[in-house]
Amino acid sequence: MTDVRPDAPAVEPEDITEETVTDATVESFARTADPRLRELLGAVVRGLHAAIREVEPTIAEWETAIDFLTRTGQKCDDVRQEFVLLSDVLGVSALVENLNHRKVGGATEATVLGPFHMTVSPVRENGDSIDEVGGREVCVVEGRVLSVDGEPVPGASVDVWQADENGFYDVQQPGVQPAGNGRGLFTTDAEGRFRFRTVVPAHYPIPTDGPVGELLAATSRHAFRPAHIHFIAEAPGHVPVTTHIFVAGSPYLDSDAVFAVKRSLVRDFAPVDDPDQAARLGVANPFRHALIDLVLQPVDASPQP
Ligand code: BEZ
Ligand code: FE
Repeated sequence: MTDVRPDAPAVEPEDITEETVTDATVESFARTADPRLRELLGAVVRGLHAAIREVEPTIAEWETAIDFLTRTGQKCDDVRQEFVLLSDVLGVSALVENLNHRKVGGATEATVLGPFHMTVSPVRENGDSIDEVGGREVCVVEGRVLSVDGEPVPGASVDVWQADENGFYDVQQPGVQPAGNGRGLFTTDAEGRFRFRTVVPAHYPIPTDGPVGELLAATSRHAFRPAHIHFIAEAPGHVPVTTHIFVAGSPYLDSDAVFAVKRSLVRDFAPVDDPDQAARLGVANPFRHALIDLVLQPVDASPQP
C-alpha cells in the first residue's frame, strides 16, 4: 500500500532478511507509549524469533501451530478456558505464579489458580459442608489465617473449591452436580479460624477433549493432577494467596501435569476414630481430618531472593 504520510521519507527500501527481521520487528514497536508494553513486545518477539530460528519450521508445521492455537481459542467459552490449560501444561502458569510470589518469611506458598475458578463460591458459615451431594469419604478441613508475624487475621475471606470424589468440578457437570457443589466462601472468626466439611478429593485428569489433550497425547504425557483442594485467602493489608493443599500419599504428587506441587502444601488427611470429636464437628465417625494454616505476607514486605 502507498504510504501517504506527508512526512514519509523518500528513501530506497532495504530488504528485510533473515538476519534483520528480528531487529526490524522490535524497532517497529519503538514508539509504543507504554514502556512496559514496549518491553514486553520486544521480549516476546526476540523469544519467538529465537525459537523459530532454532527449529526452522516448515510452512506446513507453522500452519499446524496456527491451527492448534486457533482451535485452542475456539474451545474457550464461559466455563472452559483452554488457553489457561495450555499455559498450565507448558509450565507458564507455575512460572508466573512463582515469580510473582517469591516467598516472604513463613508465608504460605502460592500455586496455580487453574481454570475452574470461574464461578462465585456460595457464602457459607464456618463448619458448613461444601459437599452438597453426600460423598463417601467425609473429611473436616480446618485452619487459621495468620500474618507472617504469627498474629491471627480475623475477618479474612477464604475461598475454597475442589473436584468431587470422581474428579469433576461442578462446572464440568451441569445437571449432574448442583452449581456451587465443592465450593465455599468462608470468613475467619475472631481467632482467624475457618472450618468446613467436605469429601476427600480424588486425583483427576485435566480436560483432555481439546487441543491441550492432543498435545499431551502427542508427547506421551499423562493428564493427571494429584488430589488437592484450592484456596484463595484475602485480608486487608495483606497480599492475597492463591494456593492448594495436596493430599499426602496421592498418586501424581511427583508428576503433576501442571507443575503446581510444593512440598510445603502437602497435608495428611488423617483418619480419626473419635465419636466425641465427630459429634463436635458434625460428621459421622470415623472421618478424615486435615489442617492448614494460611499465612499471608503484609503488603509492604519485600520478597526474598
Ligand atoms: C485445577 O487444579 O483445577 C487445574 C489446574 C490446572 C489445569 C487444570 C486444572
Ligand atoms: Fe483443581
